[in-house]
This record gives sequence, structure tokens and C-alpha cells, in this order.
Amino acid sequence: MELLFIGDVVGSIGRDMITEYLPQLKKAYRPTVTVINGENAAAGRGITEKIYKQFLEQGANAVTLGNHAWDNRDIFEFIDDAKYLVRPANFPEETTPGTGLVFIKSNQLEVAVINMQGRVFMSDLDDPFRKMDELIAEASERTNIIFVDFHAETTSEKQAMGWYVDGRVTAIVGTHTHVQTSDNRILPQGTAYLTDVGMTGPYDGILGMDKEASLRRFLTAMPSRFEVPKTGRAVLSGCMISIHDTTGRATKIERILINEDHPFTL
Ligand SMILES: [Fe+2]
Repeated sequence: MELLFIGDVVGSIGRDMITEYLPQLKKAYRPTVTVINGENAAAGRGITEKIYKQFLEQGANAVTLGNHAWDNRDIFEFIDDAKYLVRPANFPEETTPGTGLVFIKSNQLEVAVINMQGRVFMSDLDDPFRKMDELIAEASERTNIIFVDFHAETTSEKQAMGWYVDGRVTAIVGTHTHVQTSDNRILPQGTAYLTDVGMTGPYDGILGMDKEASLRRFLTAMPSRFEVPKTGRAVLSGCMISIHDTTGRATKIERILINEDHPFTL
């Protein structure tokens, strides 16, 4: 099977890129399963029910989140009914709504989708490594096709997690930094790995935010509210993973990057 993952959709420019390119990507790559990270989809901060449903209608099978999961208060109203919305699994178990592990059925196959958050330079959540052991054990009872979106800040924590789960999950890709890395590879035990998939949204900003406001912070050390540009050039970042149906091992991971400097050709 083929799995398409699209990295952090930021604001309306990112959502417009999904509308424009998801049909073309589906035509070109024929993914069996599509997963989108939507944690910045609502004006850069969280996700609304409307946007979540729109992603599913456009062909996503699951939507993953991250540290911005709770920024839009709408989330608390719909997360427990959103069967295919996956929030970081290592938030405190007893008090956090939603789930960090979702199963998608596709033909005869089942795909487990896990969302996990890193702790280096981020909030002090539960240990993502131990939590990963738990979820892999739970997912493995149903399927050997396991996809992980590891939402983390540092390349070191992401690489560490990649090695930690090699041979135990089908693929682990990083999100959150919004800049695509070029280290896509199959690890020795058959797990597809990419440190960061990159983001889908404004191309001429700073990590998808308006560059003037962000630059002002660096120049003045004064607080400056980040805004997501509503117009301007756009980028889409993602990856395609080929998976052996019976072993659950990845055979190929390819990066996708679409912008004016890297135009998409079918
Ligand atoms: Fe994030």
C-alpha cells in the first residue's frame, strides 16, 4: 500500500494548497491512505470541526495534531466525536480528551496512526519513548502497519525516536519545525524515516507566519503577535511511503515539496 502524509497545514493558504494539490497528488501517487497534520490549520492555531471535516471530505483518512491542538477552543466540543482526529498521545491520560492512536480501515488492511509529541524545548509531557512502547504494543495487536507523526522540535530527539522504533513501526516522520529535511531513508530494520516533513502554507513567511512580525521580535526583543498571511505564494510539503502489505515494512519513502521553486509536474 501507499501512504501519503502532508505536513502541518498553516491557515487558509495551506488549506487552499490541499484543495488544489491533493486531487493531483492522489492522481499521481494513488495513495491507499492519506494523513494530514492539521494542528495549525485554523489561522495557525489549532483546528476547527469544519476544517477537520473538510480534510476528511477532501480525502484525508486521519488528521494528526501537535502542541497547538488546544489553541482553538472548538476542539473541546468535537474531539471526542472525531473518530479520525489524533492528538499527541503523551498528554496526561486521565485529563486529556481525544486519543493518540486511531485505526483506519482500507480494503482488507488496517493502518494504525499514532501522534506523539517531543519534550525537548517543548512542554513537559509524559515520556514519549515509554508511551510509544505502550502504543506500539496496543496497535500491534490489530495490525503491523503503524504510522507515527512525531511532533517535536529537535532533530536529535526525532532521530533518537527513529532508532528507538526501527523495526517496530512502518514509518515515523517528524512534524512541527515546518522546514523539510532531506534525510528520508529506510532504517536498517525496515522503518521509513524523515526528520521533518515541512509545512503546507505561506511560502514567503517565517515558518508560515508573517515575516514582518516575526522579524520584529528578533530585532526589538519585544513581544509581537504572530499572524498568518492570507495572501501570497504557497508551499506544500509531504511524503509518500510505500509499504509491504503483509510484513508492514516500508520499502520506499519519497519527499514531496511543491512551490514556485519546485513546481509540481504529474
Ligand atoms: Fe507544532
